[in-house]
Amino acid sequence: MQIALFGATGGTGQQVLEQVLAAGHSIKALARDPAKLSTREGLSVIQGDVLDQAATDSCVEGTDAVICVLGTTPGSEPVEAAGTERILAAMDKHGVKRLIAVSSMGVGDSIDQVNFAFRIIMNLTLKRIMQAKAEQERLIMASDTDWTIVRPGGLTDAPASGEYRAGLDKSIKAKRVSRADVADFVVKQLADRSYVRRAPAVS
Ligand SMILES: NC(=O)c1ccc[n+]([C@@H]2O[C@H](COP(=O)([O-])OP(=O)(O)OC[C@H]3O[C@@H](n4cnc5c(N)ncnc54)[C@H](OP(=O)(O)O)[C@@H]3O)[C@@H](O)[C@H]2O)c1
Repeated sequence: MQIALFGATGGTGQQVLEQVLAAGHSIKALARDPAKLSTREGLSVIQGDVLDQAATDSCVEGTDAVICVLGTTPGSEPVEAAGTERILAAMDKHGVKRLIAVSSMGVGDSIDQVNFAFRIIMNLTLKRIMQAKAEQERLIMASDTDWTIVRPGGLTDAPASGEYRAGLDKSIKAKRVSRADVADFVVKQLADRSYVRRAPAVS
């Protein structure tokens, strides 16, 4: 498969990139600074910002599925909803149906899966980002794409362990999970339709 990847230069995005290539797929990645990505077989990089519709269109064109691991750069306006709006428009334009997007536990009906302390942080320092993620999820759920929203707990840079819980079970509480394990779950969704139009947690 050819995968359009948004957020490839980020912590989780780099793990997704490695694992998608290792699984034998190819990638078109949109990057504001392509120098952050080393040249790799199977990887083509398009320079651009997700907020630029033409750049996003060209990343999605000709691909079989889209993976979105965008995150807001500190000090910038939240990118999640505005970026996703462009991605969905590009998918519609180019007839691409499958979307796997990383959001966060605590968004939407996963609010009860995060602890009290995190809810306070969400309402103080992360308020605008969490609002952007809620809007991102709303846009995705309203689309006619075959979407899967992946909601991780607190991200770490630990190596992949394979020891994570994932799924729709509300007993899964927000705990630390490595970006590599989140990427493992994300990449598995390319070959698994169990969570189409669902929002599983990974923790
Ligand atoms: N930190 C946590 O504990 C936690 C918990 C749950 C969920 N999450 C969410 O999980 C996701 C992945 O997190 P992460 O820490 O791995 O991400 P990250 O390192 O912050 O990476 C964000 C990515 O988004 C890209 N990006 C931002 N604005 C862009 C724009 N306008 N156009 C194109 N690309 C843009 C960045 O590109 P540049 O390299 O150009 O900046 C980067 O590749 C995020 O949505 C995050 O909010 C995080």
